[in-house]
Amino acid sequence: MCGIVGYLGKRNALEIILKGLEKLEYRGYDSCGIVVYGEKLILKKTVGMVKDLKELFKEKIKADIGIGHTRWATHGGVTEFNAHPHFDCQKNIFIVHNGIIENYQELKKILVNKGHLFNSETDSEVIAHLIEDFINQGDNFEASVHKTLNLIQGTFALLIFNKNEPNKIIAARFSSPLVLGIGKNEFILASDPLPISLITDRMIFLDDSEMAIVNKEGYEIKSYVNNLKIDKKTVGLDLKVKTTEKEGFKHYMIKEIFEEPIAIENTLRGRILKDKTGTKIRGLEEIYHKLKNLKRIILTGCGTAYYACLYGKYLFEEFLPYIIEAEIASELRYRKINYDQETLVIAISQSGETIDTLEALKEAKNKGAITFGIINVPGSTIARTVDAGMYTYAGPEMAVASTKALISQITALILIMIYLARKNLMKPEEAKNILEELEKIPDKIRYILGQESLIIDLAKNLINYKNFYFLGRKFSLPVALEGALKLKEISYVHSEAYPAGEMKHGPIALIDENFPVFVIAPNDSLYQKTISNLEEIRARKGKVILISDKFPENKIDYLISIPSSLEILYPLLTIPSLHLFAYYFANLLDLSIDRPRNLAKSVTVE
Ligand code: G6P
Repeated sequence: MCGIVGYLGKRNALEIILKGLEKLEYRGYDSCGIVVYGEKLILKKTVGMVKDLKELFKEKIKADIGIGHTRWATHGGVTEFNAHPHFDCQKNIFIVHNGIIENYQELKKILVNKGHLFNSETDSEVIAHLIEDFINQGDNFEASVHKTLNLIQGTFALLIFNKNEPNKIIAARFSSPLVLGIGKNEFILASDPLPISLITDRMIFLDDSEMAIVNKEGYEIKSYVNNLKIDKKTVGLDLKVKTTEKEGFKHYMIKEIFEEPIAIENTLRGRILKDKTGTKIRGLEEIYHKLKNLKRIILTGCGTAYYACLYGKYLFEEFLPYIIEAEIASELRYRKINYDQETLVIAISQSGETIDTLEALKEAKNKGAITFGIINVPGSTIARTVDAGMYTYAGPEMAVASTKALISQITALILIMIYLARKNLMKPEEAKNILEELEKIPDKIRYILGQESLIIDLAKNLINYKNFYFLGRKFSLPVALEGALKLKEISYVHSEAYPAGEMKHGPIALIDENFPVFVIAPNDSLYQKTISNLEEIRARKGKVILISDKFPENKIDYLISIPSSLEILYPLLTIPSLHLFAYYFANLLDLSIDRPRNLAKSVTVE
């Protein structure tokens, strides 16, 4: 994963790069480092977060160029030596790298035999030494970078600084994202548009096999394969920087949970027909002529986005005459799937950068499938790879644990379902009924969020338990999976989800009075069946927390009440309570909620 930022121009490079790195911490935060050049060269690295790196800069520093990195370790432990920037033997060439150099061991062997001394255990360091080696052989800086890029294999977004040409940063990408921001006599390079928005809203998204040579006077973009110049389109992206602040909340996660209602409103905006009998989705309109022979839809994503896919499968099956599949992207890409033009692959991703989702999508596209994206981050790699797509407009999601993004993905799926169903058999009144109910959901979530003190009490009551089950059937199964994932990833307690009907086939063996079970059972077509499963747990002394809008007469240990709605919309009401529970549980344990251990928000390694 990792995030990289480079800056050159009239402002204080140190400040800009540190601010930029903070915005990229969602990509990794186990260690970080920076090299800046002004009156002299300053290199600093540390284990920990960007705030720890800031501490190392006590006095004011004047620098107009530099590169920085925030790391999520892949090759080599979390140490200062393994933190970037890495450098060559002479400490002239400095690089920051996001990705993995797959052939680094053979390259390192050759370089070590030639006498190069390595400082770290990383794959990335070979890049600095390779460039040095070509320079030693008489090539100039740019030619050396060029040759190096053609030697390394794997994935990379790279920024390279040469102390002997301190007016320049060379950047390159293959498979890892990289954006160039173009200001007035100043430039910024970063893994995503958030740091770019610190100085400009004009940017260029580099594509695979491209390199950018940027100096204070201008920039040039070339293919490092054939060395030909490339004319790239500049795009304007107005990212409201203020929406990436905590705005008085203790953590981003709780702020983002409270943004769930507005995330739905933003996803809906402009997409419901005036008379509410259908939806308008530009991306689908663009490719609809290709969907005439559609037979199969495959939804794919990772982590929480995969749970949106699972929800989408159950939803689409209910209303559409196609075969619907939901697949974890990291599995899908290695399976032998027959893709054709009768298959639509929908990739769901908050960041639009998850490598497994991207690769599964590329594979499907190359083999002839039609591709569509449900993406939150504008201009991201997946958004630019799909045939068409829709943005969820949930706004920047900064906490590693995804919350409002999921809610907006579910909303987008409902809009897509209605668009396709209206082209099939769905009657206008049915669409209207769903859409009118959907428009009421944001206020219903606001009501749930207003009851947070009850969830805080519940978290207090359950804080000493170490194991949890989350159960649900049909539309509530992805909800149960999300509840369990959220709790384990930020609280580090064991939590698992099961289809409620599956308990009796094994998992119920673990139930006793020390194993609380969340049962998600809104008043839908499977309510009675799920309540029977709940009774089976109570019969074995299991503690039960029931999330519903209908409560059985028998006494239940804990109740979380939600407003009523349509069967397909209940997940939008049950998920927020589970997000609140996971948050307050972790908060009582005083854990690093926005940056949980071992995780990163955007997973750009396989
Ligand atoms: C990481 C994050 C999860 C997220 C998943 C997919 O694992 O920690 O919160 O659900 O990636 O991310 P995406 O950006 O593709 O939705």
